[in-house]
Amino acid sequence: MINNINIMKRKPLFSFFLLIISFSLHTFPPLSALTIISSTQPLSGDQTLVSKDGNFELGFFNIGNSSNYYIGMWYKKISTRTYVWVANRDYPVSDKTSSKLVISDGNLVLLDQSKNLVWSTNLSSTSSNSVVAVLLDTGNLILSNRPHASASQALWHSFDFPTDTWLPGAKLKLDKITNKTQHLTAWKNSEDPATGLFSLKLDPNGTNSYLIFWNNTQQYWTSGSWNGQIFVMVPIMWSNNVFNFAFVSNDNESYFTFSLQNNSTISRFVMDVSGQVKQFTWLESTQQWNLFWSQPRGQCQVYAFCGAFGSCNEISKPYCNCLNGYEPKLQSGWDLGDYSNGCVKTNKFQCELSSDPSSGAKDRFLTKVNLALPEQARRVVEAGLREECESTCLSNCSCTAYAFNSSGCFIWRGEFLNLQQLSEDDRNGQTLFLKLAASEFHDSKSNNGTTIGIAGVAVGGIMILLALVLILVIRRRKILTGARTSVEGSLIAFAYRDLQNATKNFSVKLGGGGFGSVFKGILPDSSVIAVKKLESISQGEKQFRTEVSTIGTVQHVNLVRLRGFCSEGDKRLLVYDYMPNGSLDSNLFKNSKVLHWKVRFEIALGIARGLAYLHEKYFGLAKLVGRDFSRVLTTIRGTLGYLAPEWISGVAITAKADVYSYGKVLFELVSGRRNSDPYKDGQVSFFPTLAANILHQGKNVISLLDSRLEGDGDVEEITRVIKVASWCVQDAETDRPSMGQVVQILEGVLDVDLPPIPRLFLAFVDDHEDSIFVTKSNSTHSTHQDTF
Ligand SMILES: *[C@@H]1O[C@H](CO)[C@@H](O)[C@H](O)[C@H]1NC(C)=O
Repeated sequence: MINNINIMKRKPLFSFFLLIISFSLHTFPPLSALTIISSTQPLSGDQTLVSKDGNFELGFFNIGNSSNYYIGMWYKKISTRTYVWVANRDYPVSDKTSSKLVISDGNLVLLDQSKNLVWSTNLSSTSSNSVVAVLLDTGNLILSNRPHASASQALWHSFDFPTDTWLPGAKLKLDKITNKTQHLTAWKNSEDPATGLFSLKLDPNGTNSYLIFWNNTQQYWTSGSWNGQIFVMVPIMWSNNVFNFAFVSNDNESYFTFSLQNNSTISRFVMDVSGQVKQFTWLESTQQWNLFWSQPRGQCQVYAFCGAFGSCNEISKPYCNCLNGYEPKLQSGWDLGDYSNGCVKTNKFQCELSSDPSSGAKDRFLTKVNLALPEQARRVVEAGLREECESTCLSNCSCTAYAFNSSGCFIWRGEFLNLQQLSEDDRNGQTLFLKLAASEFHDSKSNNGTTIGIAGVAVGGIMILLALVLILVIRRRKILTGARTSVEGSLIAFAYRDLQNATKNFSVKLGGGGFGSVFKGILPDSSVIAVKKLESISQGEKQFRTEVSTIGTVQHVNLVRLRGFCSEGDKRLLVYDYMPNGSLDSNLFKNSKVLHWKVRFEIALGIARGLAYLHEKYFGLAKLVGRDFSRVLTTIRGTLGYLAPEWISGVAITAKADVYSYGKVLFELVSGRRNSDPYKDGQVSFFPTLAANILHQGKNVISLLDSRLEGDGDVEEITRVIKVASWCVQDAETDRPSMGQVVQILEGVLDVDLPPIPRLFLAFVDDHEDSIFVTKSNSTHSTHQDTF
């Protein structure tokens, strides 16, 4: 009743209304929690409807300071507010206290402050005033004739009208009679639940696959068809002990549904604003949503993600940038990760300004390299030379770009989508000639600006001089005092000279690999550091600093702490705390003291947790991070033996390359030797292949354990480690688990099937080895590839 009095002071009228409700509800302790909504019991203001066991809660919500209010449903027991359903996503109300959700004529309706109908369950059946709305503990809001109805007695289910989230038990149906499909449609952006562009639904053509569409028209992803156990493009679904999957197809409908084997697990699928479908599982221990899987894997595989004239870049954030000469059409959208509005030209083409194209300056072309070219090009047959191709584009005012290659001349008219910036070493990269307004090229051709130009140069010169003097003074000070500049939180920007001194001119080498060597050093405060000199880092100073600051914010018990960095000229160095125990490498292979199995298992789990933390919280932020992950963790040598095939094949590197390397490390933890080392008896056998074979043949895995341990190890743990390691080193990235899953498998939360032997390993299989097995794993691969 104390609550009542407080409310009363603020809004007398409203609280009078609440008071009435609270009397009728006095048996339920929290004033604002309703168990039903009926014709006499509406929901308004801060009241919520709560499910019986308190799993879910429904009520008005807004995001940030927005005055758009929605009726939404969220998890009541989860600390991170997560909306699973929104009733009026495209029709917000502006005042929650005078709007209400109530039963009217047998329907659940949302009325705004002026009593206008904003949203309704739209049932046409007999209107009955005994109808009530109840929220079930599954997250299904139902309408029924009785307050304690079950889902099967419902007249209406919110499960039939999903927003962006698919909860266990819900079906995403294709009605074969009406040919209607239920969609999951992403929010417009992270702060706006309005209908977005990306939606997931069952293929209306009955192929038993789920598809993702852009703007309901353009399909850009498929789950592959249901093969009885999994969707063939989603191998991660292979049997596990967390989910039960079912696909039902009969004359009336087909649908897929999933349930959890353990009811205390909280999991959801969501059609994300990124255009990817994602599955999350709630981790109580970290109070976070753990990403289980997401598809399509690459952000740039999402159709039109960066909008018109946007350039998508998989390897650095933000993923989207406007092409030169263009700027975001709607900056507010870009700020929220909604790039769909794309970019617009900053300056008009000369041909758009002047009726006589021969007068004044001409539009020109900017050469952009390493691109995946946009779609919808027109091929110009007559242009046999690049110059002809260029003049075709120049003479056509609507032409925005052209490309000229061995297949001929291609021009783009007006807006184009899906341009992707590839990495420098991508062999599929092509060149685009982008038309730009003459005014975009700041050269000396125009005469009007000369005076301003000279004045500008003079002022600029002075500024540069001043800056130089300042830098020199600061440098000098730094050298004198040995002080280091602190930037971005706790990270230190070291001077190269300081690191040279600390490492005695890089004299004590701790290790080396493909990406740089690591040296031991001692700072003036006598703390011991490991300094890594990065080789072949081609990025600019600013980018490097941003990326380093990203790693710097990563703090995890299983990660080596990054203390700072140095970026001077073309020198790029990372400074870590020194690990007195030495690297895993030296402990495992060189020490005379043998690591006990329990210690190895803890190491395996520790690295997995560290990587999972990095991947799920920080991956995708930076190329540097991506290429440097393994190094961040340990000083394991970056030799070929640990590298995933995609490093060699040149496709984009993702977190799954780390998973691969991690898998290789796991094998070595078990065997206590390098994967490619021959056995003492001289028999050459590639350990991962051997391990996979022993698993498949059902032999005792103890035989795989480091012989120095004399069989002293936990068979179940070893089996888990070998299984997960074999999945990690699969050739196809999509077959590899995420690090989050690895942790779960190692912890025994998640179980996995026997993995196929990776194709690249087959090269190592002796002739006498099981040939059925070889064929089987090959065919697994062709299935996956065919459907890509
Ligand atoms: C989506 O499609 C509708 C018509 O179907 C069209 O009006 C709208 O402009 C499209 N949206 C975008 C972003 O292209």
